[in-house]
Amino acid sequence: MIAPSLLSADFARLADEAQRVADADWLHFDVMDAHFVPNLTFGLPVLKAVLAVSPVPLDCHLMIENPERWAPEYAEAGARNVTVHAEACSDPRAVARDIRAAGALAGLALKPGTPLEDYVDVLPDFDTLLVMTVEPGFGGQKFIADVLPKVTRARELTRTGRVQLFVEVDGGINADTIEQAAAAGADVFVAGSAVYGADDPAKAIAGLRAQAAAAMRG
Ligand code: DX5
Ligand code: ZN
Repeated sequence: MIAPSLLSADFARLADEAQRVADADWLHFDVMDAHFVPNLTFGLPVLKAVLAVSPVPLDCHLMIENPERWAPEYAEAGARNVTVHAEACSDPRAVARDIRAAGALAGLALKPGTPLEDYVDVLPDFDTLLVMTVEPGFGGQKFIADVLPKVTRARELTRTGRVQLFVEVDGGINADTIEQAAAAGADVFVAGSAVYGADDPAKAIAGLRAQAAAAMRG
């Protein structure tokens, strides 16, 4: 699945920008609170406005402190997937339970330096594992290939049948990097600048999807 990130869109024209990626699978919505990450973006009122006009299901990536407090409201509002950061949760299992009870898929995100092994036990409670391939906070950064072993390990865990997960990569995904991520085992690809920075976002999505599919087939 390809999930263009609204972070790289024109914020003055969000309805049009959602329409421009109507061929995407999920629309990635980066919530930043200027505490968990240095940057500040948008929150629940903007999510509701975008949900009302988006042809594509919303994938919320909460880069915020105290996600326990906010995540269920993003699910109740109608987001398809709501992802919280492992580093910000005191009880990831409880958050996952609340997100699912509110009707969304539950995601767990890991910063580049956060080991997957610390969270293997909670993965059965989640539907999505988001492996950050840049430090969270800003679009347009360089892909960190060193984190791909976490993607491979997560994919292995799904093969053992112990967990069922989308494995999502986020940060620096473009035509030069998507194949490595797909070959490692990712199946959801967030792309901000590579989609919204392209002259033709629909063409960029189709190109990325074809590259990922080919790399997954090996
Ligand atoms: C970064 C965000 C990403 C960002 C990706 O903290 O989580 O979703 O939008 O942007 P690109 O694809 O430009 O690296
Ligand atoms: Zn993101």
